[in-house]
Amino acid sequence: MELQQIKDKFIEIYGGTEEDLRVFASPGRVNLIGEHTDYNGGFVFPAALTMKTTIVARKRQDKIVNMAATDLPDRVSINTEDINAYKDLWWGNYQAGIIAEMQKGGYEIVGCDMLYDDTTPHGGGLSSSAAIEVATALTFAVFSNEAKNIDTPVDMVEMAKISQMAEHNYVGVNCGIMDQFASAMGKENKIIFLNCKDLSYDLVPVKMDGYKIVVTNTNKKRGLADSKYNERRSQCEAGLEILKTAMPDKTCLGDITVEEFEQHKDLIKDEIIKNRVQHVIYEDDRVLKSVDALKNNDILAFGQYMIQSHNSLRDLYEVTGVELDTLVEEALKVDGVIGSRMTGAGFGGCTVSIIREDAIDNYINSCKKAYTEKIGYEPSFYITEIGNGGQEIL
Ligand code: GLA
Repeated sequence: MELQQIKDKFIEIYGGTEEDLRVFASPGRVNLIGEHTDYNGGFVFPAALTMKTTIVARKRQDKIVNMAATDLPDRVSINTEDINAYKDLWWGNYQAGIIAEMQKGGYEIVGCDMLYDDTTPHGGGLSSSAAIEVATALTFAVFSNEAKNIDTPVDMVEMAKISQMAEHNYVGVNCGIMDQFASAMGKENKIIFLNCKDLSYDLVPVKMDGYKIVVTNTNKKRGLADSKYNERRSQCEAGLEILKTAMPDKTCLGDITVEEFEQHKDLIKDEIIKNRVQHVIYEDDRVLKSVDALKNNDILAFGQYMIQSHNSLRDLYEVTGVELDTLVEEALKVDGVIGSRMTGAGFGGCTVSIIREDAIDNYINSCKKAYTEKIGYEPSFYITEIGNGGQEIL
């Protein structure tokens, strides 16, 4: 929805005038390369999208938070003095988690009426949940600072960390920091080269003359993804413990080089665990090489690393599935597609492809046809624009 429409809808729901409305927004993300490396202390290379969660909010005089969404009939009312009573909300779960984490962190939660509008597709692997979390955290942080007369700007890295904790403790997904960090810290036309071990980062300009980043949604309904995600994470932890018997100073898989892994990999007897670890170690290395390729204007090399990444996620990490594999296979048949891979957690969700501008129509037509014939329903396509991270919209 356009901002004015969201404001109109807010007035329809909560009454009053537009005068005291505040607007906050935070985006979804696409990860170009570096998958399942973040929770292993590795590197990732995501960018914030222009698809986002917008919150229109107005402070209240009490401790109640009322929430509604433009695309859902649900209405949720939370008494912030009893936040643990809201652990089982369906819609509103992320927000309750954010409030709980912020209370733990000493923020003063100000009661307010809120209306949410999401343009990031739900459950599509573009981090619609991180967009909701970071936008919510930002809203409450700004209001808390105002209540306490603090005039330093909100620390957006802290918003990302609070959002990640809400996901762990409320939603039950032991996710890494990538999605929330990208949503909080993204910059227009920049890709974030993030070291997830210490959160140091570099903003790399998107130099893709003649090419575009195209996101394709499998539109698959995701089942059990959360438990499989947590299982992958535990397998990596198990692999690390074994490798540490030879390299006790390593604190995460991100500390281990390809050479060190090759030297010690036979310590891991379980093939599945070895495969998972191998994916992470090589994927981490690919991120470094990809960032260099992009900085050196070698977009073709970048595309090759994307393809290797997908193959590794399919064969070693086993998080792709027929829908994502079909999209990538079909993409790579099209002249002008120089790289394509799944993005995000996998098990459905989206692919990201780098496509020559004049080949995009051809890609969309042929991919849509082949995918629909094989899978039975259509994919969706988004030509990506890289936008800014979480902010108040004045
Ligand atoms: C999800 C998680 C991220 C990251 C990716 C896989 O998006 O939220 O932390 O682990 O999967 O790279």
